[in-house]
Amino acid sequence: QCSLTVALILMQVLNTSCEREGLPKLPVPPLQQTCERYLAALTPIVDPEELNHTRKLLEEFQKPGGVGERLQKGLEQRGKKMENWLSDWWLQTAYLDYRMPVVVHSSPGVVLPRMEFSDRQGQMRYAAKLIAGVLDFKSMIDNETLPVEYLGGKPLCMNQYYQVLSSCRIPGTKRDTVVNYTLDKRPPTHITVVHNFQFFVLDVYNSDGTPLTVDQIYIQLEKIWNSSLQTNKEPIGILTSNHRNSWGKAYDNLIKDKTNQESVRAIQKSIFTVCLDAPMPHASDDMYRTRAGVQMLHGGGSRWNSGNRWFDKTLQFIIGEDGTCGLIYEHAPAEGPPIVVTAYLYRKNKQHGSMLNVESLSFFFLFCSMVHDLDMKVSVFSHFGKDFPKSQKMSPDAFIQMALQLAYYRIHKRCCPTYESASLRMFRLGRTDTIRSMSIDSDKFVKAMDDPAKHNIEKVALLDKAVKAHRAYADMAIRGQAIDRHLLGLKLQAIEDLAALPEIFMDTSYAVALHFNLSTSQVPAKTNCVMCFGPVVSDGYGVCYNPMDTHINFAVSAFNSCQHTNAARLAQALEDALLDIKTLLEQTPKVKNWSLMFDS
Ligand SMILES: *[C@@H]1O[C@H](CO)[C@@H](O)[C@H](O)[C@H]1NC(C)=O
Ligand SMILES: *[C@@H]1O[C@H](CO)[C@@H](O)[C@H](O)[C@H]1NC(C)=O
Ligand SMILES: *[C@@H]1O[C@H](CO)[C@@H](O)[C@H](O)[C@H]1NC(C)=O
Ligand SMILES: *[C@@H]1O[C@H](CO)[C@@H](O)[C@H](O)[C@H]1NC(C)=O
Ligand SMILES: *[C@@H]1O[C@H](CO)[C@@H](O)[C@H](O)[C@H]1NC(C)=O
Ligand SMILES: *[C@@H]1O[C@H](CO)[C@@H](O)[C@H](O)[C@H]1NC(C)=O
Repeated sequence: QCSLTVALILMQVLNTSCEREGLPKLPVPPLQQTCERYLAALTPIVDPEELNHTRKLLEEFQKPGGVGERLQKGLEQRGKKMENWLSDWWLQTAYLDYRMPVVVHSSPGVVLPRMEFSDRQGQMRYAAKLIAGVLDFKSMIDNETLPVEYLGGKPLCMNQYYQVLSSCRIPGTKRDTVVNYTLDKRPPTHITVVHNFQFFVLDVYNSDGTPLTVDQIYIQLEKIWNSSLQTNKEPIGILTSNHRNSWGKAYDNLIKDKTNQESVRAIQKSIFTVCLDAPMPHASDDMYRTRAGVQMLHGGGSRWNSGNRWFDKTLQFIIGEDGTCGLIYEHAPAEGPPIVVTAYLYRKNKQHGSMLNVESLSFFFLFCSMVHDLDMKVSVFSHFGKDFPKSQKMSPDAFIQMALQLAYYRIHKRCCPTYESASLRMFRLGRTDTIRSMSIDSDKFVKAMDDPAKHNIEKVALLDKAVKAHRAYADMAIRGQAIDRHLLGLKLQAIEDLAALPEIFMDTSYAVALHFNLSTSQVPAKTNCVMCFGPVVSDGYGVCYNPMDTHINFAVSAFNSCQHTNAARLAQALEDALLDIKTLLEQTPKVKNWSLMFDS
């Protein structure tokens, strides 16, 4: 109990540690700068008349003493009062008010390299090691020895690491909430384990506060396995995959029953969840990755492993009997990178004995539904990785983004608003902003690339310019100077002031700019894994990639219900685009000073 109290005090200290480390506060960008950059972002996506209309609205908005100035002042005051003017609003609007199912629409999955085992012993042994590893990580959090991460020499806010354990989303009929029990008087000492759709509580600490060893955990997992051999149980966990309003209603009914309430509470409080999945049908190497991606994102449907989840749980590790491994996490409390770091920690080994208690949780089954609409392709691009763009002195991320722009243009014959997430963790409690990867420059490049009237030398110049523009936007975004969160802030400020919504937010251009047909994220990791997520619009794609030194792992998603999109097609087009750009660069003599060309 004493050590838990100490951990508790440390957690409170940690909560303010962002400030103590002297991390800056998220700035509110200048109003005029955002308006100018917004117009530039609109230029390649809306037609000229529409753009003129929006330009007028923006001029009106920015007038001295006008609405924009008033809202801007409101935001600046909020920035002074609060630790971070954006983070609460962002949590609320991007996640908790969002009513689509968290499955596919919000929760990302991570596919870890396939493990060597193919039986239950291997599965349980790996699960035991992984659990011990995460507990080790937790002790680093608890004793404040987690090394601070840096980006470009600047320390990053570590707050998100403290949100991913012992937390859970709770559905509501109108909006959801997130609970965490790390600061509870009695912080949880158990995890939940799911096997054959049945949920178990597993206490992972001895009475003296030391974590169980791998061998001890293994024995407990075996007990769980043995007492959940029946496979005809109702896949109750699927409830959590529903539309949030209907799940909210069902949840209220579910917890009217006391046993259910306790069971649900046990899952919510648990440090994390481990899903021991049934083996999936055999797949070839090429098909395997995609199948694993789907298994991480939604479990494969109610016939397979979707019932082996509690999708509201922040962190669920998934270990299949066939060696498929990965995780899925609920997005509200944290972004990709902290989670991926969590996924590859090591274990330690200590010997301790203790009495353990494994209890089975029981539920009423209400109803189940599952969308089988996900179209997914996970592949490895093996021709090159970060090495090639680096050899060309180009930012690998910008290079991949431009290839993606080209791939999309080749399929759809036009460019589309593109979202790439940028980390704001250089700032206290920072989450993300948007890098708009589609720009005036990327538009020019993709249009020139397949134009036979253009010389290679000009194509290379346009590529170079587009890559630099992307790099500049990305740098600006991580410095808190991008446009998307600022515009959202101005809009929410107007709502909070109970003022009329300014016209710029009711404008067609604004709706077009926010319809991200391409939603992308670079999630680099030292392990050979790949994250995957669904599209954010019904007629769009989700694209996530992990550029390694000599290859690139990527996952593309779309919806089968949209006739115009196809994940495998975009994945193939992306591979072709990467190769074509490489060929272009290799076949074109280097030009020393591109600006000479643009001036002519
Ligand atoms: C947009 O406005 C500019 C300058 O006001 C004008 O020259 C141009 O013709 C307008 N374009 C359209 C398509 O209305
Ligand atoms: C904190 O936890 C880590 C990981 O278990 C351990 O290596 C380290 O010695 C601990 N530090 C303190 C001060 O307890
Ligand atoms: C836990 O949740 C509470 C309430 O939502 C929040 O104020 C607090 O910062 C969170 N703390 C941690 C350590 O996650
Ligand atoms: C689980 O079942 C297997 C096979 O029946 C048996 O060998 C093993 O001892 C059991 N383990 C536990 C912990 O009950
Ligand atoms: C993107 O989504 C919009 C809105 O649904 C749609 O009109 C458009 O065809 C899609 N694709 C492109 C390339 O804009
Ligand atoms: C490239 O050419 C421009 C225009 O002549 C000049 O201003 C610039 O300094 C040159 N840059 C380099 C790196 O030589």
